[in-house]
Amino acid sequence: MSGEHYFTAEPAVATVRHDVVFTVDDQEFRLVAAGGVFSASRLDPGTSVLLQRAPLPDGATTGDLLDLGCGYGPIATVLSRRAPDATIYAVDVNQRALELAEENTGPNVITALPDDVPETVGFAQIWSNPPIRIGKPELHALLLRWLPRLTPDGTAWLVVAKNLGADSLQRWIEEQGFSAERYANHKGFRIFKVRKAGDAGPNDAQNS
Ligand SMILES: C[S@@+](CC[C@H](N)C(=O)[O-])C[C@H]1O[C@@H](n2cnc3c(N)ncnc32)[C@H](O)[C@@H]1O
Repeated sequence: MSGEHYFTAEPAVATVRHDVVFTVDDQEFRLVAAGGVFSASRLDPGTSVLLQRAPLPDGATTGDLLDLGCGYGPIATVLSRRAPDATIYAVDVNQRALELAEENTGPNVITALPDDVPETVGFAQIWSNPPIRIGKPELHALLLRWLPRLTPDGTAWLVVAKNLGADSLQRWIEEQGFSAERYANHKGFRIFKVRKAGDAGPNDAQNS
């Protein structure tokens, strides 16, 4: 990417378009990606683990969901097809990523810069392959901006590579007053299930 970061706001690298094809639950997805956005040539392996291992929403899911750091939109596209009655906010700082996500996703997806998401919206689910490479203080600020916007019984599903500090991030999330369970561990990636601490969700309640 010619020395540019994938989180550059206005990428200068040429807009060479590629199809990215992948399958989730026997459903094929064909998306358009382009230079200047994260993992433009193939579905990122971490995103793939998240989409294969975390419990995806379904036709019964309603409310507002967030794809935090949507890139060209693979997570938002899967969420929107699985949960047509939900509204999915696909948020990124990279303008080209947002344009591609707009092209790729369905009518129930709102692509937006972070500041353009109305403050009043709370999220029943947050899905993210977060931008670890922006640096620890920026990543922490990002999570502290969005995790508090979970609804009281909402859940965030995060995928993080073990070798990029997944375990210390899990501890940090817990120190901020959330519960962060290691839900799955696959191919060097951790999936964390994050909830507002003190919230007894349906499954937790059954165990108490
Ligand atoms: C690891 S990539 C994942 C992209 C996409 N979800 C995927 O799976 O291919 C993280 C994304 O977060 C975006 N990002 C970086 N800083 C951000 C911020 N402050 N707010 C929202 N998104 C951000 C990057 O531009 C990048 O697209």
